[in-house]
Amino acid sequence: MPQEGLPEGFILRPGVPADAKSFHKLDHICFPPQVAFSLALFRFHLKDQASINLVAQKAADAPLAKSALAGFIVAHVFGKSGQIVTMDIHPDYRRMGIGSVLIDKCETAMREKEAKESLLQVAVGNEPALALYRKKGYRPIGVIRGYYPYPPPSGTDAVYMEKIFNVGK
Ligand SMILES: CC(C)(COP(=O)(O)OP(=O)(O)OC[C@H]1O[C@@H](n2cnc3c(N)ncnc32)[C@H](O)[C@@H]1OP(=O)(O)O)[C@@H](O)C(=O)NCCC(=O)NCCS
Repeated sequence: MPQEGLPEGFILRPGVPADAKSFHKLDHICFPPQVAFSLALFRFHLKDQASINLVAQKAADAPLAKSALAGFIVAHVFGKSGQIVTMDIHPDYRRMGIGSVLIDKCETAMREKEAKESLLQVAVGNEPALALYRKKGYRPIGVIRGYYPYPPPSGTDAVYMEKIFNVGK
C-alpha cells in the first residue's frame, strides 16, 4: 500500500481480525470507557466485507498485528453512503498528519465500494476532530442530541457531518 503523506518510518496497512484487541486498547486510550467501542464491534468490522479498516504503525513493528498502533480508522459502506465509525491516533503520534492520511485512504476505499458520500458523527466539544474533519472537507448537516451516552443525565450531542464526493475526483 502506498505510504505517501505519512511521517517517515510509518506504514499503512489493512486492518486484520488479529488487530481487534489493539483497536479496542487504543480506543480506550482515546475515549472514556463509557464512550469507547466494544471489542465485539471491532471484531465485527474487522471481518465484515462492507467495512474498511486501515492501520498506521511504525514500519519497524510490521507486520505484527499485535504490536502498538500509531492509529487506525474504521468505516463501512451501505449502498451509496460511507460512514466513518471511528478513528483513533495514539497521543504520541498526533499532529503528524497520520489522521489526515487515514481519512484520505479511507475515502478512496469508500469510492472503490461505490460510495458517493462520507458521513460521520463527532462529539460537539471534540475540537481536534472537528478541525480535522473541516479541513478534510466535511460540513455539519445537523446535531444529534444525546448521541453519546456520557456524561449522565443527558449524554453528549454529536455534530452530524457529510462530505459529498465529487465525480471524477
Ligand atoms: C482527532 C484526531 C484523529 C486527529 O488525528 P491527527 O493524526 O493528530 O490529525 P492530523 O495530524 O492529520 O491533523 C490534520 C489537521 O487536523 C486539525 N487538527 C488536528 N488536531 C488538532 C488539534 N488538537 N487542534 C486543532 N486542530 C487540529 C489541524 O487542522 C491539522 O492540520 P495541521 O496540523 O496542519 O494544523 C486525534 O486527535 C485523535 O485520535 N483524537 C482522539 C480520538 C478522536 O477524537 N477521534 C475522532 C472520533 S470522531
